[in-house]
Amino acid sequence: MSRHVLLVARAVTHHGGEATVRRLAVDVAAVVGAPVVACFLDGAAPSLHDALDAAADAGATEVLLVATHLPPDRYLDTWLRRAHADWAAGRRNPPPTSVALPLAEQPALVTAVVAAVGGPVTPLTGRPGPFRAAAWTAVPRHRHHVLVCRGPRCTAYGANDVAGALTGRLAAHGLGDDDVLVTSTGCLFPCSIGPVVVVHPDDSWYPHVDVGLAVRIVDEHLCGAGPLDGRPPRAGGTGDFADAAQVDRAED
Ligand code: FES
Repeated sequence: MSRHVLLVARAVTHHGGEATVRRLAVDVAAVVGAPVVACFLDGAAPSLHDALDAAADAGATEVLLVATHLPPDRYLDTWLRRAHADWAAGRRNPPPTSVALPLAEQPALVTAVVAAVGGPVTPLTGRPGPFRAAAWTAVPRHRHHVLVCRGPRCTAYGANDVAGALTGRLAAHGLGDDDVLVTSTGCLFPCSIGPVVVVHPDDSWYPHVDVGLAVRIVDEHLCGAGPLDGRPPRAGGTGDFADAAQVDRAED
């Protein structure tokens, strides 16, 4: 029997924690003697879907999901179940999968906090200057603002690759934040037609974005003549895009 453990975290709401989760996976693997991998419900790679695929392709006969957050994240707890159900529905013979008790309910957490309280400390020496710096009062002067949804469903559908393609292509054109400001977001609502990318001020909502379309958005919309043909703006709440969003929210 081959049991694979996935530490499932979020990156959209917990910036900069990815490396810690990856390091934790390595350390836990050394103790439990089984494959342990860090993955993300949103905002970072690998996605939960990709990690489940990798475990199944590697011959896992059982998968254990560990929601890796303190305190417990209700969004993560809910959506890792939904994301797993979506993945299993599209996979032949998915391995049985379980979810562990929340970390906050593990007795060993007390031991860890006691060790932190009694362990080495580092004096805080920061200055308040950066907190109130004038630079943080200036409104950016970019001409386009691109929102890249990296919520749980868009992440499952490939938003990590889309975000990388967008920023890489913009860099290839020599464009920075003062030209095109790219912001990763949480769920923007029309999840079922994700990955979703929005370009403002044109109010252009692009559904089903893949790497190829991301490159075209940069080349033809942001550096070219404007919104792509066949990818209309929101159009006042009518049309396929708006209809799909309505259906999706009704399911929640
Ligand atoms: S997760 Fe992207 S629109 Fe909901």
